Amino acid sequence: MSLNRRRFIAAAAAGIALAPRIVVAQTATPPATGPFKVPPLPYPTNALEPHIDALTMEIHHDRHHGAYVAALNNIAKDYPQIATTAPGEVLAKLNELPEQIRTGVRNNLGGHVNHSMFWQVMSADGGKPSGDLAAAIDRDLGGLEKLQSDLNANGLRVFGSGWTLVTVTRDGKLALETRPNQDSVLMDGKRVLFGNDVWEHAYYLHYQNRRADYLKAWWNVVNWNALGERYAAAKAVILDI
Ligand SMILES: [Fe+2]
Repeated sequence: MSLNRRRFIAAAAAGIALAPRIVVAQTATPPATGPFKVPPLPYPTNALEPHIDALTMEIHHDRHHGAYVAALNNIAKDYPQIATTAPGEVLAKLNELPEQIRTGVRNNLGGHVNHSMFWQVMSADGGKPSGDLAAAIDRDLGGLEKLQSDLNANGLRVFGSGWTLVTVTRDGKLALETRPNQDSVLMDGKRVLFGNDVWEHAYYLHYQNRRADYLKAWWNVVNWNALGERYAAAKAVILDI
């Protein structure tokens, strides 16, 4: 073995041995500048406690959603059309985008619309299902208890990261669906009434691996008043995300 080779191996070994074992905290996402913005939370970060803790909400909203928005703004520098076209139209026609940005738009615009929906459909005091929406839940999903248990079961079946969702047609028909990663039902020309984020970043600090407990507790913070408005908007064909 050459001297240089020996020196290299020794240095590499020393480097490994001496490398400080420091876990570097995830740095905050740089402020997103550009056409895409993270919508402000409609409530304080601690409003959903004890079901969702304030730190989880802060990291989830500011950093995770912030990262999707920052990535979109980077893409929009060269491809501004992704910001000037409605998200539903962009996501339904991903194949028409240049190949080099298709995956980035799918993941980050999907993440942006999924999370923008998610913040809206939660509240500390969201009321109860009522009116047309309550009737549709009975008609299409077998009632509230069955909806809750089926949405949770779907959420448990999502392998890895994704979403458990209720979609709504312009005729007001409801259906349960799941999507992996940050895929959006907008990609299929559909609209989501509401849904739960089953990425670990949504629950891990408080629930660790207990996704079932998170899914169950989440029903305490569903904003039924907002869902009633989203249901009416879907039927009026003005539900944009
Ligand atoms: Fe999330």
